Amino acid sequence: MFAVRRVLVSNTIKDVFTRSKHSLPDLPYDYKALEPIISADIMQLHHSKHHATYVNNLNVVEEKLKEAVAKGDVTTQIALAPAIKFNGGGHLNHSIFWCNLSPCGGNPDAALVKQIEKDFCSMEEMKKRLSEATVAIQGSGWGWLGYDQKTKSLRIATCANQDPLQGTTGLIPLFGIDVWEHAYYLQYKNVRPDYVKAIFDIVNWKDVNARFKTAAGC
Ligand SMILES: [Fe+2]
Repeated sequence: MFAVRRVLVSNTIKDVFTRSKHSLPDLPYDYKALEPIISADIMQLHHSKHHATYVNNLNVVEEKLKEAVAKGDVTTQIALAPAIKFNGGGHLNHSIFWCNLSPCGGNPDAALVKQIEKDFCSMEEMKKRLSEATVAIQGSGWGWLGYDQKTKSLRIATCANQDPLQGTTGLIPLFGIDVWEHAYYLQYKNVRPDYVKAIFDIVNWKDVNARFKTAAGC
């Protein structure tokens, strides 16, 4: 009887552990769906290699963190923080990025357009400022359109490396542009401005609209 109970408890722990592992989300479209703006080669490498590596490394470092917490080893917990930020940020950022893009993403809805015009005067001005900030990122990072719940306004921000927008600035991410070279170099080479300009042709406004509604509570 006790043996059976031990097996059940053991299996339950295994189930919880398995469920707590992060996994690579499926793309909501084919690798070639965003062509000609983003090639199938880039999408396949970016999703199946780069994003997958962030997920795998996050699972490894979380396991080390669990062990350190169980041992009360605060020094190791602190030492693991940068790896959690990098790999956790990489997983969060890319999970948003895939959904932010679509070959048929519709249009910004009336509520979002109204907010953009309030905060940036026009859609074109918002795109211009987001593009300029994103192109100017030194090295690898992300450009974001985010929502500030304190001021109830949209903000443009940039993050270095894989720093996640909400975790580092408090802004709610609505639309992000990945400007790590792995996101564009195979196709656009060193011409980051052309990639940033082109990406506005494949924005999934349906996804951005939904994120805005959730963030703004409207
Ligand atoms: Fe990336």
